[in-house]
Order: sequence, then C-alpha cells, then structure tokens
Amino acid sequence: MLTEVTATRYVTPLREGGSLPGIVEADDLGTYVMKFTGAGQGRKTLVAEVICGQLARRLGLRIPELVRMQLDPVIGLSEPDQEVQELLKASGGLNLGMDYLPGSIGFDPLAYQVGPEEAGRIVWFDAVINNVDRSWRNPNMLVWHGDVWLIDHGATMIWHHNWPGARASAAKPYNASDHVLASFGPDIASAAAELAPLVTEELLTEVTADVPDEWLVDEPGFDSTDALRRAYVEPLLARAGTIHERITLDAPTTNGPSRAPGWLADRLTPGARTTRRTANEQSVKDGGQ
Ligand SMILES: Nc1ncnc2c1ncn2[C@@H]1O[C@H](COP(=O)(O)OP(=O)(O)OP(=O)(O)O)[C@@H](O)[C@H]1O
Ligand SMILES: [Mg+2]
Repeated sequence: MLTEVTATRYVTPLREGGSLPGIVEADDLGTYVMKFTGAGQGRKTLVAEVICGQLARRLGLRIPELVRMQLDPVIGLSEPDQEVQELLKASGGLNLGMDYLPGSIGFDPLAYQVGPEEAGRIVWFDAVINNVDRSWRNPNMLVWHGDVWLIDHGATMIWHHNWPGARASAAKPYNASDHVLASFGPDIASAAAELAPLVTEELLTEVTADVPDEWLVDEPGFDSTDALRRAYVEPLLARAGTIHERITLDAPTTNGPSRAPGWLADRLTPGARTTRRTANEQSVKDGGQ
C-alpha cells in the first residue's frame, strides 16, 4: 500500500500541467506534486498514475515515489487564484502525491543523450501501458542529478475508458515514431527479454492493489473494486508478453525546439553531448529551414 500523508501547505500551482497539479508540503515534512481528484481529467487519470507508476517502479525504472495524500481544502483559503481555490474545494479527501524533484528540468532530446538500452526499456514500457504522452512535444520525463525520471502516466491504458472493448483495444500495436526517445535507437528486443518475464499476474495484482478503493467504486459493469482491479491485470499481462512484436518505429520525429538552455543541460547531465547543437547547426542540418 502507498504511504499516506496529509497536506499541510499549498505552495504553488504547476501551470505547465494541463490538470493544474500543485506543489504541496505534507506532515512528513516532504514536498510533493499533488494531482487532484477534482481535476477535469477525472479519477481514472489517477488510477493510471498509480498502476503505471508502481509497475514502472517494480520494473526498476526511475519514477518519483507516489503517496496517498489527504487534503483539507482549508489549506488553500489564502490562495488568490480562483481556479486553484475551486480545484482544492472539489478535491477534499484522498488525492495523489508524487515526490517533488527539486531542481529537475524537463528532458530535451536535443540536449541529452540516452543509451539504446535505457531508451529501449522506456519505449517498451510505454508500449505495454499504451502511453501516448511521451512525445518530443511533451516528453513527461525529468532530468534530475543527471538521470532521467519518468512522470505523468495519466494518459495511458486507453482501454479503461471503454471496458467492453478493452480486449480488442489492448491487442492493438504501438506506434513509437513520435516517442521522445525514438531517435536514440531503442533496443526493444533486449528490453522485452529482460522485462517481460517480470510482468507476472502476481506483480500486476500487487500493483493494482495500490489503487485506493475510492477511485474504483461504482464503475459500470463491475460489482466490486476487486473485479475492476482484475480487469486492469489482463490487458497489461497480455501486452507485456507480445507487444515488442507490434511496436512501429518509422522515421522518428525529433525536430522539436530545444527548451533547455545549453549551459544548464551540459552541466547537469554527465551523458550530455559534449558539443550541444546550436540552433544554427540544427537549422543547417535541417536544410536551412
Ligand atoms: N515529481 C516532480 N518533480 C518536479 N517537477 C515535476 C514533478 N512532476 C511534475 N513536475 C512538473 O510539473 C509539470 C506538470 O506535471 P504533469 O505532466 O505530471 O502534469 P499533467 O497535468 O498531467 O500534465 P499534462 O499537461 O502533460 O497532462 C511537469 O511538466 C513538470 O515540469
Ligand atoms: Mg505532463
């Protein structure tokens, strides 16, 4: 079960996140990124965060620790922003917290180097969970102390939005051409050989047990939260076994603008390219466009 903490202070909203997550302090003296049950994206986003985040952790991928976070909306009373006030008011009770990585910066494929093995593990994992939200436009990876950390697994497991069609939906291939790590030569075969045997029914049962009952109750077509938990196990188990045969990686799209300042990227990342491409060099490479 995830550790439970209670929010003690709302620090600031993270405006780059579509669901308006907030930086929040808690009674264990930790600082967390809080994802709110009252956000428009709905509670299934939080279910996906827990299942995929905990699965990633169990497979040895780097993801900040997840916690259950109790919120009394009263902590936001002095918050001047009405949108934040309303979000907090709609989110009393249990929410999701993710350990805040201070000083981390967003991953930039033009500034950082990721080896084929690590790229393969991440692309394979994203294929299993059907993550459509790790493109160069929105990498949802952070660089912290020189390592890549995965965040934001809310837009995964599309089949949980339509359970009657889940089996057919989960059988579909995964197009990784738009993946932020597509250009790093991901070694998917090795990743599958290493990680697929670890994704057992037992492991998935443990991972789904971490989802709070409150976010699973009253799902149409299921008479108990445990029945719904079992429904999450099946597609992930099936995909882990064979998805490596159905990952397409055609011409990777990586011409996104570099967002990190070069001096910072080069200092923070030991594996960063020693000579970072300047905007001018990139433009020459792209044919002066
Ligand atoms: N654990 C963390 N430590 C530090 N910063 C974080 C952490 N988690 C998220 N952030 C920052 O907050 C931003 C928004 O987080 P996240 O992508 O999880 O939110 P979201 O609302 O799901 O976003 P999206 O718009 O991508 O759906 C990230 O891009 C990152 O800059
Ligand atoms: Mg995001």
